[in-house]
Amino acid sequence: MYLTLPLQDVFTNTLYLQSCLLLCVLVSALETVTSKYGDTIEIPCNNGRVVEAEVTFVKWKYDKDGNILVKHRDQNATVSNDVNYKNRVSIKDFGLVITQVAMADQRTFTCMVVVEEDILEYPVQLAIYKVPSQPQITNLTTVMAIGKPTTLAQCHSEGANPAANITWFKNKTPLVTDGAAIKIITNVDVDEETGLSTTTSTLEYTAVKGDIDAKFTCQVQHIKSANMDSSPLVFTVNYPTEKVNLQVVSQGPFKEGDNVTLKCTADGNPPPSSYNFFINGEEKTVDSSMYTLTSVTRENTGEYKCSLVDNEDIVASIPITVEYLDVVLSSTGKIVKKLGESLEMTVDVKASGAPQTSWKKGNTKLNSLPKFHKLTYSDSGVYECIVSMAGLKKTQTFELVVEGSPVIKNLIKARGEGMTKVLKCAAEGFPKPTVQWSVNGSNVSLNDLLLNGLSSHPVVVFPLSPVVHKDEYSDQTILAVCIVVGLMLAVLAIGLAYWLYMKKFRQGSWKTGEKEDGSAEESKKLEENQSQKADV
Ligand SMILES: *[C@@H]1O[C@H](CO)[C@@H](O)[C@H](O)[C@H]1NC(C)=O
Ligand SMILES: *[C@@H]1O[C@H](CO)[C@@H](O)[C@H](O)[C@H]1NC(C)=O
Ligand SMILES: *[C@@H]1O[C@H](CO)[C@@H](O)[C@H](O)[C@H]1NC(C)=O
Ligand SMILES: *[C@@H]1O[C@H](CO)[C@@H](O)[C@H](O)[C@H]1NC(C)=O
Ligand SMILES: *[C@@H]1O[C@H](CO)[C@@H](O)[C@H](O)[C@H]1NC(C)=O
Ligand SMILES: *[C@@H]1O[C@H](CO)[C@@H](O)[C@H](O)[C@H]1NC(C)=O
Repeated sequence: MYLTLPLQDVFTNTLYLQSCLLLCVLVSALETVTSKYGDTIEIPCNNGRVVEAEVTFVKWKYDKDGNILVKHRDQNATVSNDVNYKNRVSIKDFGLVITQVAMADQRTFTCMVVVEEDILEYPVQLAIYKVPSQPQITNLTTVMAIGKPTTLAQCHSEGANPAANITWFKNKTPLVTDGAAIKIITNVDVDEETGLSTTTSTLEYTAVKGDIDAKFTCQVQHIKSANMDSSPLVFTVNYPTEKVNLQVVSQGPFKEGDNVTLKCTADGNPPPSSYNFFINGEEKTVDSSMYTLTSVTRENTGEYKCSLVDNEDIVASIPITVEYLDVVLSSTGKIVKKLGESLEMTVDVKASGAPQTSWKKGNTKLNSLPKFHKLTYSDSGVYECIVSMAGLKKTQTFELVVEGSPVIKNLIKARGEGMTKVLKCAAEGFPKPTVQWSVNGSNVSLNDLLLNGLSSHPVVVFPLSPVVHKDEYSDQTILAVCIVVGLMLAVLAIGLAYWLYMKKFRQGSWKTGEKEDGSAEESKKLEENQSQKADV
């Protein structure tokens, strides 16, 4: 009952009970005045309802027989020699003024008034309160281990009256001693000198895993002040590892030559500072959570494991695959072949998965590598074999060069603009042939043809073959001979045989001036002529 009553009531009631023995006969109710510790208080006499004119004498006393002061009408008050009050009291409108009230002043003061023939007594109870200090945390620990009772901290608040209450909170939920995980010991000490109370509360706590990041606070509660919270306390929660996890932190898929970094993590706190890694069946203890396999090869494909150093039963594993792709062409670089020969190219692919192979000649995509049964000039070129698989790509190339003596492919006569005719001579051969024109059996340069009223210009020159010359001339009777000669310069390596072969130049000729019209018939005739000569 004592504790459930508000402070003022508590005071009134307890003191009433005590005082009744002395005063109940005289008065029916006991006034209470409340003051803050250290303040100056004025205790009124009969609630200030004293008529000055009627009063001849006033006396203030305390407890049973402590005299404080007396005042006769029209005289200054006389303060008694009582050590408790002689320097701290005065009178004001019959009220007793006490400076610097302390806990010892929490007692009953009586105002005795002589009015005419009556002596009246008005007792007043003085209650002193003092608000406590802010909560202070001491004996703070930093780490709590799961399942182990730990004294987390002590919280105290001093200089209070009545004594302050202290309540611990975890994440805003009040904690109460439960005979298991929570044990709170609270002490109240009263200072002998000041009479003020210090409340100390010790929190002993057994953490669970859910307490990671839990915020603990100490709250000081006092009837005369707002609740005061300590700053939140956060503890490191230590718990053992139950599981390890192995990850590959490098970005896969992996190919030969890559570095592969593994990371082992444990769910305990604090995390282990070293781990065991099992690399190709070999156990390695490292003071790190990382392990790097440098420049892996296809032999590194397999299962990798890590475990705690002190408990190899707590283990994790992960498979690693190192992709590889080997591409071997039966021949690479420059392949020189004679016109009409055959060539068989093969490609050997070894890979860890299903590779995709594609072929290119120059910039043109091929469906597959062509089979060269009978090489032609047009087979010449750079061939590229592209094999890809899982981010791996290998390219192999070879350059095919088809060599042969020059051949006139085409002689065409056609009508040009106005009175001109166009002669076209197309030839092929490797190395690149040059074209020589002769008119009426005499060699002429293109410039000569122009000077003679013939305009001529090469139309297309292919790098390898064919070479095409087109010449326009006026309608005169001339014999234009297109002579194609293989360049000797580039073929020194081929030697004498080839040089001799070259000397057998090929030529084609037209006779003009007839009523031809560049018809197919004429072209055919020319070609016959050309092929006859070519057979020479
Ligand atoms: C009462 O006190 C005041 C000041 O303390 C003083 O001036 C006055 O003379 C005193 N009166 C008597 C009657 O002593
Ligand atoms: C708290 O710390 C004080 C000294 O700072 C020490 O005297 C006291 O015994 C400690 N209390 C507990 C419960 O550890
Ligand atoms: C202090 O604690 C007591 C006992 O639990 C309670 O009755 C009282 O109301 C509390 N005082 C304050 C100011 O909270
Ligand atoms: C692999 O690691 C080595 C040494 O740590 C380094 O020199 C090399 O450049 C790395 N290779 C790759 C492909 O990152
Ligand atoms: C024309 O030139 C070729 C090569 O330049 C030469 O072999 C041939 O003898 C020359 N013919 C005439 C008739 O000058
Ligand atoms: C070519 O010969 C013919 C006769 O055979 C002649 O009429 C013509 O003018 C000659 N042309 C040139 C350019 O020499």
